[in-house]
Amino acid sequence: MKSMSMKVFLVSTLSILPLLANSGEIATNSDTLAARSLVKAFGSDLKHVLKTSMKSGGPIKALDQCHIQAGPIAQENSLSSGWEIGRTSLKVRNENNASDEWEMTTLLQFEKRKAAGENLKTMEYAETVKVGDKKVYRYMKPIPTAGLCVTCHGGEMSEEITKKIKSLYPNDQATGFMVGDIRGAFTLQKIIK
Ligand code: HEC
Repeated sequence: MKSMSMKVFLVSTLSILPLLANSGEIATNSDTLAARSLVKAFGSDLKHVLKTSMKSGGPIKALDQCHIQAGPIAQENSLSSGWEIGRTSLKVRNENNASDEWEMTTLLQFEKRKAAGENLKTMEYAETVKVGDKKVYRYMKPIPTAGLCVTCHGGEMSEEITKKIKSLYPNDQATGFMVGDIRGAFTLQKIIK
């Protein structure tokens, strides 16, 4: 009985510790502050294209616009900042967005934290990793599924939209999401000295 409760205590403390250590680091790190503002700029560029094309031509036109512009928008934001900026997911539409091992681990960590009740709005994760002889600062922030998103990422999409997506992305995996789900995440990295 005693060893049982000790075990529970240990497990719960251990699972909380990295979060505490990390949130401390995140609040004071200037790289994190930069990453946060880049996510805002990149996210609002994407949203702008999505919303204006949805308004002017509906989801079919928006699909074309996102297909054409999502890559260049990420590149533009990357080039002007010196960071590598993109989006990834456990279920990607564009295979160029597939996650590497670190990103996959972080996405799974986000799912766990969400299941434990943490708010997606404030969720983020940052870590400095070694790649060869370089140190790379990596940052991710989850992207929640909103009402607008299920038009093209949901479980019950119109036949027209489904067809259009299949023609642009034959290996699409990014459907079946519900409002509130983690659709994916912004992912940023920068080589540091
Ligand atoms: C008009 C259809 C449409 C809507 C609405 C839409 N998306 Fe997408 N989404 C796409 C397309 C097309 C891509 C692939 C873009 C590319 O080629 O890089 C994509 C890609 C993504 C990706 C990158 C990962 C991947 O799967 O390749 C994320 C993350 C994403 N969408 C999130 C969202 C969120 C969040 C919303 C709601 C705010 C949303 N999408 C609304 C069409 C849409």
